[in-house]
Amino acid sequence: MADIKLTINGKACTAPAGSTILEAADLNNIHIPRLCYLKGIHKYGACRICVVEQVSPPARNLQAACVVEARDGMVIETNTARVREARKAMYELLLSNHDKKCLTCSRNQDCEFQALGRELGVEDSPYEGEREILPLDVSESITRDPNKCILCRRCVSVCRNIQTTSVLTAENRGFHTVISPGFNLPIGSSSCTFCGQCVVVCPVGALRETSHKERVLKALGDPGKYVVVQPAPAVRVGIGECFGLPAGSCETGRLAAALRRMGFDAVFDTNWSADLTILEEGTEFLQRFKDVLSGGKAVLPMMTSCSPGWIQFIEHNFPDQLEHLSTCKSPHEMFGAVIKSYYAKKIGKKPEDMYVVSIMPCTAKKTECARPELSNDGVPNVDAVLTTRELGDMIKSMGIDFMDLPEEQFDSPLGLSTGAADIFGVTGGVMEAALRTVYEIVTGRELPFPNLHVSPIVGLEQIREATIKLENVKPEWKAAEGFEVRIAVTSGYEGARKLMKQIRAGESPYHFIEVMGCPGGCITGGGQPRPRGDIRVTRQKRLEAIYAEDERKPIRKSHENPALLEFYKEWGEPGCHLSHEYLHTHYVKRGRYNELTDENFTIKD
Ligand code: SF4
Ligand code: SF4
Ligand code: SF4
Ligand code: FES
Repeated sequence: MADIKLTINGKACTAPAGSTILEAADLNNIHIPRLCYLKGIHKYGACRICVVEQVSPPARNLQAACVVEARDGMVIETNTARVREARKAMYELLLSNHDKKCLTCSRNQDCEFQALGRELGVEDSPYEGEREILPLDVSESITRDPNKCILCRRCVSVCRNIQTTSVLTAENRGFHTVISPGFNLPIGSSSCTFCGQCVVVCPVGALRETSHKERVLKALGDPGKYVVVQPAPAVRVGIGECFGLPAGSCETGRLAAALRRMGFDAVFDTNWSADLTILEEGTEFLQRFKDVLSGGKAVLPMMTSCSPGWIQFIEHNFPDQLEHLSTCKSPHEMFGAVIKSYYAKKIGKKPEDMYVVSIMPCTAKKTECARPELSNDGVPNVDAVLTTRELGDMIKSMGIDFMDLPEEQFDSPLGLSTGAADIFGVTGGVMEAALRTVYEIVTGRELPFPNLHVSPIVGLEQIREATIKLENVKPEWKAAEGFEVRIAVTSGYEGARKLMKQIRAGESPYHFIEVMGCPGGCITGGGQPRPRGDIRVTRQKRLEAIYAEDERKPIRKSHENPALLEFYKEWGEPGCHLSHEYLHTHYVKRGRYNELTDENFTIKD
């Protein structure tokens, strides 16, 4: 489509036809204040902070720049006295209904509403409306504070349009409007998957992760506890942003150093257990594949199980299809199980004296660590989960100068990992890591892709697929000769829903599927630093940083991790009795599915 020409603040501007006034202004470096608008995610016109004067063709009312389309020949003024007064009045109205406890708010100094007040020059709060104080809604993962909600509806958009979960909605009307799960249910009793995508986009402190900072500090101060920490792959490409570094910074060395300064007894790495996951999950896939080749009834496609948001999603929405899930616990839960059994024995400690803290890019992992299935002998595998954001806060509050830290290594032996583990942090990474191992087991050769990257599944398109032909296989795999293994990868629930509907209809062409709950995978998980600007740009930069970290590693295939090979010498082999006791799990049918109507009823069992 052709460009249009318009004049904003006397400046001749061009923009693609179909742009809004705000988009046209952004493209021409003219800043219009905004609050509810979020590029690529939410365009709703809720707050009217972005109002401008439309001089030509003349419009009597001020226009909301984020929703009104820019037209050829338009003349716009963004900074008249009328506009400034209107914005201020709008802000003051929002403020009158807001719980202004900034000093103790999780978003203090990182709050879009606070920053906007300063930008608009608001120095007082002239209206003090009658405010109804509403209770906090605290779930294992997410805390909702309706008193801080400014009704921007970004969370509603992300939950409905991007994640297709439609948990959050506007309840009641007028002054009594509250954004909450339907029927004002507590979020923990709804069909929320705890992906935290709503938390990432909330501009204020109305949605946040439920904090585990206090429980971690308590454990660190308890001389009776041996406290082990493990950060997930995606944390190393997120933590730098908490300290002002640009998106795409990879801070593995300083991350290890910071965790050591915080006082953890052992600083290991979830990446070690990402490699472990590949051996367990790869073995499980090969067992199912072999069974199908010999006419057995093993269930394919097998689907990955690393993402607890995805697990909640399938349990709620496709409870009749759980047998497609791999039985592998997620990597950090496997890690916790190994720490409290194998490693505890090695250092002469009881499982109950070990305390495992996971640093995760994820809010769903907080709920996951409370699942009763993820414990052994009554001891939870993981005791606390801190998001990347919480870790950033804790490093600051402990007075550690992150940027001044030297680059250090993780501790041995459970800190050593391969490049295959790094790419767990990005959509497509678990599948690629699994294929690097599985293909080699079956054929005795490396994957036939340049630089080991399965290029058709690298990227951010919603569903990516590839076919891998098995040729010249090892003698023990001769039944697989010539077989074309079809794989698919998706992230976010919209793609997952499409793939699951295919499976339910018996029309899935795939044998192995990777699903991550958050769009892009863990790099833009619900616990990562909130992107500054367009989330899609941040996602791409973090993706590139993850692949670069993989390529820097001297060993890039999980089955070549020497620390893992040592571990299996004592543990047994992948899929052995001990593995099934400690590293595998089962799932819970949460929703109710009616086959006659193809409808889901997300009622908790
Ligand atoms: S949400 Fe923002 S403005 Fe509101 S109390 Fe928290 S920091 Fe202050
Ligand atoms: S956590 Fe995810 S599923 Fe739950 S309300 Fe937020 S966006 Fe929706
Ligand atoms: S909870 Fe946050 S994102 Fe949702 S409407 Fe309220 S302020 Fe906006
Ligand atoms: S930013 Fe345009 S109406 Fe909120």
